[in-house]
Amino acid sequence: MIYFDNSATTKPYPESVKVFSDVAGDFFGNPSSLHGLGLKSGKLLQQARQIAANSLGVSSGELIFTSGGTESNNSAIKGVALAYRERGKHIITSAIEHASVYETCKQLEDLGYTVTVLPVNRKGIVSVEDVKKALREDTILVSIMQVNSELGSIQPIGEIASLLSHYPKVLFHVDGVQGFGKLPVMPKKWGIDLLSLSAHKFHGGRGTGLLYVRQGVKLSPLMSGGGQEQGRRSGTENLPGIVAMARAMKIGMGNLGKNQKHMSRLRDHLITRLKELPYCILNSPEVTNVEGAPQIVNFSCPGLKSEVIVHALEDYDIYVSTRSACSSKNDKPSRVLLAAGMDVDRAKSALRVSFSPENTIEEVDRFIEAVEQTVPKLAKIMRV
Ligand SMILES: Cc1ncc(COP(=O)(O)O)c(C=O)c1O
Repeated sequence: MIYFDNSATTKPYPESVKVFSDVAGDFFGNPSSLHGLGLKSGKLLQQARQIAANSLGVSSGELIFTSGGTESNNSAIKGVALAYRERGKHIITSAIEHASVYETCKQLEDLGYTVTVLPVNRKGIVSVEDVKKALREDTILVSIMQVNSELGSIQPIGEIASLLSHYPKVLFHVDGVQGFGKLPVMPKKWGIDLLSLSAHKFHGGRGTGLLYVRQGVKLSPLMSGGGQEQGRRSGTENLPGIVAMARAMKIGMGNLGKNQKHMSRLRDHLITRLKELPYCILNSPEVTNVEGAPQIVNFSCPGLKSEVIVHALEDYDIYVSTRSACSSKNDKPSRVLLAAGMDVDRAKSALRVSFSPENTIEEVDRFIEAVEQTVPKLAKIMRV
């Protein structure tokens, strides 16, 4: 099997699976309980929080554990929108954000907030100048992702953060879901206020994520209840998931340089090979690590529907996707590719290849062979 759909989800590390199972069996006490079993679980929770905080270079009190990227994004945006509503009701985001940001902003529009949706260039990159122009007296939040999940385009997070440092009343949220473990993620150095992560995108298993909230930032909780997570996210903590995620963060950060280099080689090789195929057009920005994240290559075979190619590649035991997993069953052309100026045919024929550090150059070559064997044949059949 060749699994090239790591932006949809990754295979958990065996260490994360093991620790999940061990914690589920041995630490079943509720971390909030006062008795010994609860204290034992509470201690493990704090250890996991410290490991996660160390991986990001932040303090443990600045982390909120969540159920994943969607919840982290909703909590960040709605949480800030509600907490700062007296200050203003204007939010800035981009046209290529994940649905959990895009739809959240739309929901806030229905509640009376104003949202400016910034365009992107042909490479799928937001302009810092556009962010500056969009800022208003009543702007409370800018939400821009680190790495786009379909094109892999890297956004100028450091530059936006440095622009926003001159606007202390505007908070900066970064959806870092596709960046962590592939590129450096440095909340303190960049000077961002909120950062969303999701464990299943970095081999940590499904159902757990986190939200970094810089100390001093107010957040109205999405989940009200028993007051867990400093009252910012009530609900009994998913201790096995949190410990498994912390383990994956530690492993991921320990291998970041090596993994980034390896996936960059895979990406550069795939792009070189794709360029030899006259029926393929590259959609992702070309320059790895500067414009394009090392794990994502998006390309189109115009004239063919992407679903048809995805299924044809399955016959070779190769797994890729058409776009973000959550919208891949939607028949409309990708909103992200259209925003980057691609036409409908190109957007409807797009494929996303996404690597993990376990993938190899040989797998890339086998993938290219499969594309060579299927795409021209399919194109002939479709023409008949
Ligand atoms: C950029 C981005 N943000 C958020 C999410 C949502 O994360 P989760 O699946 O953990 O809810 C995804 C998932 O594809 C994503 O790619």
